[in-house]
Amino acid sequence: MCGIVGYVGHQNAAPILLEALHRLEYRGYDSAGVAVLRKSGLAVHKRRGKVHEMAARLPKRLSGNLGIGHTRWATHGEPSDANAHPHTDSSGRVAVVHNGIIENAHELRARLAADGVEFASETDTEVLAQLIARAGGASLTEAVRSALTMVTGTYGLAVVDAKHLNEIVVARNGSPVILGIGEREMFVASDAAALVRHTRQAVYLDDGEIATLEPRGYRVTTLDAAPASKRPTQLELADEAFGKGAHSHYMMKEIHEQPDAIRRTLSGRIDRRFATARLDGLELSPRELAQFRRIKILGCGSACISGLLGARLIERLTRVPADAESAAEFRYRNPVIEDDTLYIAVSQSGETFDTLAAVEEIKRKGGAVIGIVNVVGSSIARACGRGIYLHAGPEIAVVSTKTFMSTLVAFALFALHLGRMKDVSLAQGKRLIEALDALPERIAACIADSDHVTRLAAKYAQFTNAYFVGRNEGFALAQEGALKLKEVSYLHAEAYPASELKHGPLALVSPDTLTVAIVPADDLFEKNIGTIEEVRARRGPVLAIVHHHELPAAVDDIVVVPQLHELLDPLPMLIPLQLFAYHVAAARDCDIDQPRNLAKSVTVE
Ligand code: G6P
Repeated sequence: MCGIVGYVGHQNAAPILLEALHRLEYRGYDSAGVAVLRKSGLAVHKRRGKVHEMAARLPKRLSGNLGIGHTRWATHGEPSDANAHPHTDSSGRVAVVHNGIIENAHELRARLAADGVEFASETDTEVLAQLIARAGGASLTEAVRSALTMVTGTYGLAVVDAKHLNEIVVARNGSPVILGIGEREMFVASDAAALVRHTRQAVYLDDGEIATLEPRGYRVTTLDAAPASKRPTQLELADEAFGKGAHSHYMMKEIHEQPDAIRRTLSGRIDRRFATARLDGLELSPRELAQFRRIKILGCGSACISGLLGARLIERLTRVPADAESAAEFRYRNPVIEDDTLYIAVSQSGETFDTLAAVEEIKRKGGAVIGIVNVVGSSIARACGRGIYLHAGPEIAVVSTKTFMSTLVAFALFALHLGRMKDVSLAQGKRLIEALDALPERIAACIADSDHVTRLAAKYAQFTNAYFVGRNEGFALAQEGALKLKEVSYLHAEAYPASELKHGPLALVSPDTLTVAIVPADDLFEKNIGTIEEVRARRGPVLAIVHHHELPAAVDDIVVVPQLHELLDPLPMLIPLQLFAYHVAAARDCDIDQPRNLAKSVTVE
């Protein structure tokens, strides 16, 4: 979602803000802007388009030691110059950048308009700027506090005021705000990615907190003006991890990083002696874990699909019933939270609003929830308080690849851990561990062997429709393959259980509709062949992802992946699906890392 950033110190603010905005751009990229405070007043520059387009039009000499910046993903009001952040009050004295949604903006806007305030944009954020400029109080912090008491909704925000030359006020409710502590300078950002170049010392604000930043330090208080004591934490991300390396896109870089991401997720977590997994972060004793009769996995987008695969893996190994559901659907159906169910929230960013809201709903109803999260210290990780960190390293491309893979590895570790407390034997545990050990090499081999997929992508790039079909795990893979393809290439792709094809979708199969069939060498192999025959009988082209070279049904193309272990077999199958989406998108000249209308982490409903 939107990225926010701020700087106050002894350096020139504009270059720091721009560099940080580039790093945050994956969070949203339909418009961008900065506000720099100088003695003569606020200079605000903003426009529709990407950060580099805004940066190219900045005046050469934009000097000032304090500023805020924003990269936007539109919620209220279409992407336009006027709706870009920062927003100011009518006098141009107060500027605000904001991530989140002010729910009562409409009502507040009407009230302000009745008092004669004229608005320059359609955004909820401008309402905040107008409110802060009109709020009483001796300091900017008090003005922000008093304005926020009138507001309902979510925000991570940063405010500057031309009357206060040396301070930025930031606040958090539902959207991340992280302070970076420097030498006689302070930074703020919605994401640690924008801080690591400058400092390793960070303070994560909690909901309901306001911080005042000055060059010499920071002060945190609550919305009720009580002092809050915050301890700085150490950021562990390496700055280089944020570069593209030799790759032309982050997506390709992250596809190639998968063997390493798997190793990092596994690192220090295998107990060979007892053929189990050590997952200290779970903070659940064997006795507590054994009490759960069911597992429910929640997430959004790819995280939800990884949950479908994770549920199958857990259920097959441990025989504990497990399923997965969209966190957004779950939270809005007044779910029954059961004592004997373990809930698992999955999120790469740890900031997806619907997933966080589902976690809070579970906690409010007394349920037990753990997180499988990549970003350390993120909102979902902190709300769960326990779980499994992926340690996959930063994922910058909007579509997820390496964190999807790492999530499946985390599920395998969890299943092993739980299974070994139940009926899974030492020998079974050892076999799974051997397969996990071999996994990085197998995945690396699939990635290295990608020329064939590149050629297939060129062959099918001009199609307008595609079905992805499979059964059980194969259907979950089909969903991920279809989602990847539509996200990056804008080619219409739909996933269907292979068994359901004849109940409707077959009507659309024709020589112009590609069917990608997931055909593992499992118990359902014959059934999948039956589905392929149905498609071929309607002259639909079929691309099959298989374990064997020999297929009884004639298909147009095949991609062969190695077999490893019945529980891990879906993982290598992901690679051709990711590469196919990437190369189709490249052939269609799409913006691979920043697909239109999307954002990496969706921190609003
Ligand atoms: C957005 C992204 C998806 C991602 C989903 C969940 O929709 O575009 O790629 O799968 O959010 O993100 P999370 O950070 O919770 O895994």
